[in-house]
Amino acid sequence: MTLRVSVFGTGYLGATHAAGMAELGHDVVGVDVDAAKVATLARGEVPFFEPGLPELISKHVATGRLCFTTDAREAADADVHFIGVGTPQKKGEHAADLRYVDAMIEGLAPLLTHPTVILGKSTVPVGTAARLAARVRELAPAGDAVDLGWNPEFLREGFGVEDTLRPDRLVLGVDKSRPGRIEEMARVVYADAIGRGTPFLVTDLATAELVKVSANAFLATKISFINAIAEVCDATGADVLELADAIGYDERIGRKFLGAGLGFGGGCLPKDIRAFIARAGELGVQQSLAFLYEVDAVNMRRRDHVVDLAARELGGSVVGRPIAVLGAAFKPNSDDVRDSPALDVAGRLHLKGAQVRVYDPEAMKNAAAMWPTLHFADGMADAVRGAELVIVATEWREFRDADPVALASIAAGKIVIDGRNCLDADAWADAGWVYRGLGRRSS
Ligand code: UGA
Repeated sequence: MTLRVSVFGTGYLGATHAAGMAELGHDVVGVDVDAAKVATLARGEVPFFEPGLPELISKHVATGRLCFTTDAREAADADVHFIGVGTPQKKGEHAADLRYVDAMIEGLAPLLTHPTVILGKSTVPVGTAARLAARVRELAPAGDAVDLGWNPEFLREGFGVEDTLRPDRLVLGVDKSRPGRIEEMARVVYADAIGRGTPFLVTDLATAELVKVSANAFLATKISFINAIAEVCDATGADVLELADAIGYDERIGRKFLGAGLGFGGGCLPKDIRAFIARAGELGVQQSLAFLYEVDAVNMRRRDHVVDLAARELGGSVVGRPIAVLGAAFKPNSDDVRDSPALDVAGRLHLKGAQVRVYDPEAMKNAAAMWPTLHFADGMADAVRGAELVIVATEWREFRDADPVALASIAAGKIVIDGRNCLDADAWADAGWVYRGLGRRSS
């Protein structure tokens, strides 16, 4: 059954969700306050890098099933409205900034004259959905006929299309005292995935909100766990890659997200654990999440460690030394540089006086906007030529597949820091490089 769907917010989450809904056969309107973004999307183009998304957006702009607007009135009669606006970290504090979610609800609710369903996808502090549901009932002419549920999103950047079309689970939070039509509508929206047997969990609002932040907190904890062990490996001469393989065979542990290296960044994990800690404080259960401070601290230490290691390998100081930083995005297959460990390391070395040259296959524009004083190279070879030290900071395939012999012939010094433990250490050592992994046995 075809529904009329609106998606508010057309960032990584919203634009991908909107395109996914159109692919599932619904009639979709994406709404954003950013006129330039809307104009780009309306032409069938995507203002950021997400594999597979440009094809899907242009396909459905052409079929007419997907359109974009800045005017919420054009979305007012949708059967289901999705909230996909950003919830960044508040400036100067750890809590989530809910101003965009609040503004969206204040704008949409007065336009709702017919029974409808609003589903929140944005990551919000627990308690937000109940507050918004009450506010919508207050503002909407349709009053109690507007139901608001929470349907957290688990998509990963770089795999957004796949994760939207084939999610590993669907979670729906509903106010159990007034369930309304939320579950019925969600079952229609997601009929395809539910029909394929995708787990569909209906919970209360608070649980749904907590599922999302708990999942991200767990992933962050897993990464910081292996990075903490990497520190111990460094102190003992043990090898964290072999260790992660060995413990990963235990099904209770699993090998995924045990990639030791520069740690996590991006627009989600760092700010989500901080907002979670802040919310726990408000709820009087700060002790329960005290360990997340340590998760954050271990993570930030990874960047210090790479900067210190670079200075050590160059004899104590980086001042005036040419260094190539390969990678600026927070992870491969993304142009996102929000809280990127790679860009952070490049920026710190630059501020310490090194001559840094950064190259990233997709994130150069965003990186230059965030760090205009950094030098950006034209390609990997351009970055490495004449460098005394090379740091691989994002594990793009181009870097993993790079020929260490060819790079050795153009670099001035043959020291490589593998910030993502993604290179073939033996091949680099055979090509004459001093290879330094993180938490790895030295070559
Ligand atoms: C994360 C979650 O994985 C998604 O499920 C969630 O929907 C999303 O946040 C969100 O809240 O919107 P994402 O930020 O796209 O997705 O990135 P991840 O793939 O989780 O990677 C996060 C960071 O962890 C990256 O910087 C990555 O390099 C790092 N990482 C990942 C490691 O350092 N080691 C690993 O083993 C895995």
